[in-house]
Amino acid sequence: MSLSVRTEGQSQPPDLRFQENAEERLHIFGGRRLRGEIRVSGAKNSAIALMPAALLGDSPSVIENVPRITDVSRYITLLHLLGAEIACCENTVTIDPQRVTSAALDGEPVRAMRASYYLMGALLGRFHEAHVGMPGGCDLGPRPIDQHLKGFEALGAEVEVQGGLVHLQARELHGARIYLDVVSVGATINLLLAAARADGQTIIENAAREPEVVDLANFLCAMGAQIRGAGTDTIRIQGVPHLHGASYSCIPDRIEAGTYMIAAAATKGRLRISGVIPTHLDPLIAKLREIGVRVEEHGDALLVDGSYPGQHAVDIKTQPYPGFPTDLQQPMTAYLAIVPGTSIITDTIYESRFRHVNELKRMGADIRVQGRTAVVEGVPQLTGAAVTVSDLRAGAALLVAGLEAEGETIVDGLIYLDRGYEHFEEKLAAVGAQLLRK
Ligand code: EPU
Repeated sequence: MSLSVRTEGQSQPPDLRFQENAEERLHIFGGRRLRGEIRVSGAKNSAIALMPAALLGDSPSVIENVPRITDVSRYITLLHLLGAEIACCENTVTIDPQRVTSAALDGEPVRAMRASYYLMGALLGRFHEAHVGMPGGCDLGPRPIDQHLKGFEALGAEVEVQGGLVHLQARELHGARIYLDVVSVGATINLLLAAARADGQTIIENAAREPEVVDLANFLCAMGAQIRGAGTDTIRIQGVPHLHGASYSCIPDRIEAGTYMIAAAATKGRLRISGVIPTHLDPLIAKLREIGVRVEEHGDALLVDGSYPGQHAVDIKTQPYPGFPTDLQQPMTAYLAIVPGTSIITDTIYESRFRHVNELKRMGADIRVQGRTAVVEGVPQLTGAAVTVSDLRAGAALLVAGLEAEGETIVDGLIYLDRGYEHFEEKLAAVGAQLLRK
């Protein structure tokens, strides 16, 4: 096994990188009611957990319904740098992990995204060691990884953080009982990855219940893992010595779906959002109904009709799943900015996830932020302005704001939106939005 830390300076898979242009801006000509149907893509936060999981197999895995977004493209680069052979065709990614010989990776692609830390669990599970740069990702306040490291230690790894790298080394990886002090999606996923091939039983208590955790557990089970309880707060993993490759399809992206549902309501439009798992959206459906938006379930589609009068303010508190998702807090703030009355929005997950608010204020919103709470006084209308995106879901918020506002909104910082929303301009243009990237 090679122990030199690989970086992005080495060869790149030339045909696998999706376009990224930091100079481009999105011009939104708002005030049009969205009407029609939007089909939801595969879930970003599942895809970027399933792809490293494929490293644990001793034969190729085929993952379908993978969104073509830059976070996926970055993950492909990471796996390629480790030596995996990768083929992409439309939304299907085939990963052959057999030639991966290195457990060490650092560099810009590692630091550019949060989910690069899943390489720690996957490489530790496969090689009993991992040397991976500290992750980056959206700036939402402090995002420690202490629970991940505590769990790796419990599984038998020695942990050392030095020079911006996390070094994990285990003579043997064994099952353990791990109680997470905070409900963490990332720590739950990382520990599932590390424990799937460990000796004996691992029990993760106070585990995250997010659908993306369940999706990963299902994929690992398709690879031969023995996991019970995913989707509850206690997950039991009986380690197995080997996993094989599997064919699997990512669940639909509930946050993408939710963003378009909010856009339908915010433009007083009527959208059919298809290809979703409606129960994943229960907290949003409940809040939209409370505001006065009609939401109907039709099998795997949701019909959202925001054209009825009498909408009124609501309070929202983000919580781990099945509570209201923090990832929809930002687009929801943009919508509530034009809903009559005072809405109080509290983000209990992140310390600093209100950087979109200053931009909304440029567009005429009346919002005060106090700590983790935003007090939103609904105004009759927002007006277009030049705004800048600070993180992925702030981008979703400004997209919603631009669509509901009168006049032209110019959105700078599209690289964030491209990280998480597949073909969003095409999807929105097809339901009547007027937007132009240039
Ligand atoms: N936390 C700790 N210690 C840890 C881990 C987490 O204190 O070791 C804290 C975090 O600081 C945060 C809270 O626990 O306050 C929850 O963090 P979590 O670990 O659940 O978040 P994450 O795994 O880093 C994922 C998604 C986020 C999403 C959150 C919450 C991925 C790659 N990211 O992040 O998605 O907001 O779960 O649902 O899956 C996004 O898609 O825009 C996004 C930010």
